[in-house]
Amino acid sequence: MACESSSVKPAFLLFLCFLLGTASAQLSSTFYSTSCPSALSTIKSGVSSAVSKEARMGASLLRLHFHDCFVNGCDASVLLDDTTNFTGEKTAVPNNNSLRGFDVIDTIKSQLESACPGVVSCADLLTVAARDSVVALGGPSWTVPLGRKDSTTASLSAANNNIPAPTLSLSGLITAFSNKGFTAKEMVALSGSHTIGQARCTSFRNHLYNESNINVTFATSLKANCPSSGGDNNLSPLDTTSPTSFDNAYFKNLQIQEGLLHSDQELFNGGSTDAQVNTYSSNSATFMTDFANAMVKMGNLSPLTGSSGQIRKNCRKVN
Ligand code: HEM
Repeated sequence: MACESSSVKPAFLLFLCFLLGTASAQLSSTFYSTSCPSALSTIKSGVSSAVSKEARMGASLLRLHFHDCFVNGCDASVLLDDTTNFTGEKTAVPNNNSLRGFDVIDTIKSQLESACPGVVSCADLLTVAARDSVVALGGPSWTVPLGRKDSTTASLSAANNNIPAPTLSLSGLITAFSNKGFTAKEMVALSGSHTIGQARCTSFRNHLYNESNINVTFATSLKANCPSSGGDNNLSPLDTTSPTSFDNAYFKNLQIQEGLLHSDQELFNGGSTDAQVNTYSSNSATFMTDFANAMVKMGNLSPLTGSSGQIRKNCRKVN
């Protein structure tokens, strides 16, 4: 609605947007047009060069943005290193030994600081980098509303409590996303992110050895690299067929019980989201559109705007 789209608003509309609780009203896709015209091209080329060095980096940057936004909003809290005042989010269970891409963000941030010191927030950088990563791997593009500020703190406990675990049931997944304002359909679309990237053996071992809703040949081949004990950090692709292409193969895999994580296969296990998986499996364009729209919505989760927060100079540290 108009709260998201127009940057200049009459007072009554601003008030209406405020009443509706859309803090994203203050975000605008042209936010850096005059203050840092090279911002978007700098981020795009930084992401392209990182992804051409290692395709998986596109997946890692997309996940960083998700793990930022689900923990007190898209405020770059995930990028903060621990300090004496707080323990950050990097060592939370879903993040520890798992999140990656921090160095890529640092490199792009230092380029942004050279071009336009103190202008582009780490939270916007992460949001745009996620979009550019999807594009670099062949997925859809979308316009990113901008103007987020960076947090001055981070929360280990919020990261542990808000990021969904791969052990969740379908109803647990629906609840975790509904707590952030997403429908079950949007949750399924966003889960399509698992068409790229890798997971550690520890994240899918139980599904492999103790569950029956997994294709036997698929399970056997995975066991070679994920023993029943040990090898916790051994990697397997979330989408075996095309791990570095952002396509709809993830949903096709679910239909043949080749979801890697327990939580992946929950989306197609005889429950209420089976029909949505079938739709995305047979209609790639519908998936791409729904995914892009859900990503914009995720990027708008409680941003700090206006005088709240700061523009960090170094994404790892509060100024
Ligand atoms: C539906 C609930 C979700 C659960 C339970 C979940 C869980 C996981 C787990 C366990 C991994 C592997 C981590 C590891 O073993 O190190 C993973 C990887 C990944 N997740 Fe999710 N995830 C979910 C939703 C999402 C969403 C919404 C996105 C993005 C919008 C996303 C993007 C990714 C990507 C791209 C990877 C691969 C990262 C890499 O290769 O570095 N996930 N996820």
